[in-house]
Amino acid sequence: MTEPHARRIVFFGRQGAGKGTQCFRLAAHLGIPHVSTGDMFREAIRSQSPLGKEVDEVIAAGHLVTDELTQALVRERLTQPDAANGFLLDGFPRTTAQAQWLLEFLKENNWRLDVAIDLDVPEEIVLARLSSRRVCEDCGAVYSTSKPPTNPWTCDVCGGKVVQRADDSEEAILKRLALYTEQTAPLLEWCERHGILRRVDGIGSPDEVFARLLSTL
Ligand code: AP5
Ligand code: MG
Repeated sequence: MTEPHARRIVFFGRQGAGKGTQCFRLAAHLGIPHVSTGDMFREAIRSQSPLGKEVDEVIAAGHLVTDELTQALVRERLTQPDAANGFLLDGFPRTTAQAQWLLEFLKENNWRLDVAIDLDVPEEIVLARLSSRRVCEDCGAVYSTSKPPTNPWTCDVCGGKVVQRADDSEEAILKRLALYTEQTAPLLEWCERHGILRRVDGIGSPDEVFARLLSTL
């Protein structure tokens, strides 16, 4: 039986492009889980788990966590029953090794990647977005100083505390953007060659971008 919609989707886009913002909505719309490696690492840090303790400083400095730790986390998540019918991957893969690992993992499960989205926003715009970003430390919902929750700073979705991310310091932002260009952007060429890349303009209101995404999918 053919599936009506793309259900195994990877999101690319530089830091601050709006991946988290859009995946949060799209996951609810499509009824598939939003798998954000960044959110999972932040949850591990908050719960002070052994993984959290190991990655805390690496993430705050804007460096990448090792491929091995990240792949183990993704394997664990994608083998949960709710991911059997599809998932939105946000922030994974980000290195060539992770991309190769993902292809192997998909093959093991007889799955294929339907679509890779490149949410395109230029660097000068993401810099402004990142410095004003605030996030819910419980559910990961994304806000900004210009669009705060109704009761600052309590999450509209879950009532959690809305805070600034540790890696949204100027130094860590620059490091993360450089790593995106060096390590992650080359993966887009592979997606293009395999005919699964769709570029979506990430400029405009979140509603406008969401409408563009739906028509692309
Ligand atoms: P991760 O959490 O994935 O962060 P990131 O890649 O740096 O991406 P961001 O979350 O910063 O950006 P976003 O595109 O989600 O933007 P958002 O929607 O929030 O990773 C964090 C760290 O974890 C990494 O640095 C690394 O250390 C580690 N890690 C994670 N995955 C890894 C991996 N695979 N391998 C190794 N290490 C890994 O939006 C940003 C702001 O803009 C918000 O304020 C939002 O309100 C606003 N905004 C959104 N859309 C719009 C719009 N249309 N108009 C105006 N403002 C908007
Ligand atoms: Mg994000």
